[in-house]
Amino acid sequence: MPRIVVADPDSIRQAAAILRSGGVIAFPTETVYGLGARTLDERAIEAVYELKGRPADNPLIAHVVDPHQAQTVLADDAWNSRCDALASRFWPGPLTLVLRKSDRVGSRATAGRSTIAVRSPRHSVARQLIDAVGEPISAPSANRSGRVSPTTAQHVQMEFADVDAAHDLLILDGGACDVGIESTVLDMTVQPPRVLRHGSVTLEMLQVTLGEVDAPIVTAQAHSPGTSASHYAPRTPAELIAGSEMKATLARRAAAGVRCVVLCFDVAAAASPHRAIVMPRSDERYAHDLYERLRDADALGFDRIVIERPPGDSHVWRAVLDRLKRATCMSADAID
Ligand code: TXA
Ligand code: MG
Repeated sequence: MPRIVVADPDSIRQAAAILRSGGVIAFPTETVYGLGARTLDERAIEAVYELKGRPADNPLIAHVVDPHQAQTVLADDAWNSRCDALASRFWPGPLTLVLRKSDRVGSRATAGRSTIAVRSPRHSVARQLIDAVGEPISAPSANRSGRVSPTTAQHVQMEFADVDAAHDLLILDGGACDVGIESTVLDMTVQPPRVLRHGSVTLEMLQVTLGEVDAPIVTAQAHSPGTSASHYAPRTPAELIAGSEMKATLARRAAAGVRCVVLCFDVAAAASPHRAIVMPRSDERYAHDLYERLRDADALGFDRIVIERPPGDSHVWRAVLDRLKRATCMSADAID
């Protein structure tokens, strides 16, 4: 069983020692927990892919303390004044930049690409850990591939509880993640820069700093493999339903003997035999709670999870909706 240890100077030093000797550990960031290995350690990176069951063509994000350390894994002229502007506005924080990589970085961490994704996390435990290692740490979200991302140390432990190779995995517990959904991923190798994954750093915020920014609906594997349709999926089949269709849908399901856990905004939306889980009406609170509530819904062991489509259209709601579509395996353009 993976070990949870409260993050403190001692356990952070211990985790750093494991990383330096070629191991893998799990650690908190402000978005979700990550499963980390040293970016420059190809064998340890390989172990991360194996533990996650992650497809080899899906590259990892290198976590750094600052722009200076980011540049140690980037091509010489990759970091430009626009990157400086982004970093001074959004780092440390949930913005990931895709840039041309340095030859020092092996092909495993970047899935054979000529680019690498870099981000400077805001969580103090992540920062202390990277500082203690003194090098970038590559880390995907600490869930089994295709599953719901973890926002607590206990989620990580549950994800890997029955994975033999993770029996001695060290999980630094830094509490529940602030943001709750993964970072915004921005491709800076194209002009205009392009959002590959929506997150809490919104398109509007990026446009203020950069001017024109592209945000196509990304469903294909081509640009950013982790944005493929079936992602963040609970085990229970899940569907996304407009509030206006909720009553009729739940009546049909009940008539068919199908019991649903309903992620909705009003407890009255789901009467017996269904069960309501009431979600926050604020976009940021919803994002914060989403993965934990999906796990709760899964754990109830009902036949189906029904999610009420959030009514708002702020950019944070759009990032949330993007995760909901993937959790319910809908193609992102199917219901737009
Ligand atoms: O908030 C986050 O970003 C969390 C925490 C742990 O930092 N990490 C995370 O990692 O969500 P992961 O591996 O689950 O998602 C990384 C995303 C994927 O969609 C991946 O395809 C994309 O970033 N990505 C990584 N490197 C890339 C590259 N060189 N080019 C394009 N997309 C890349
Ligand atoms: Mg992930």
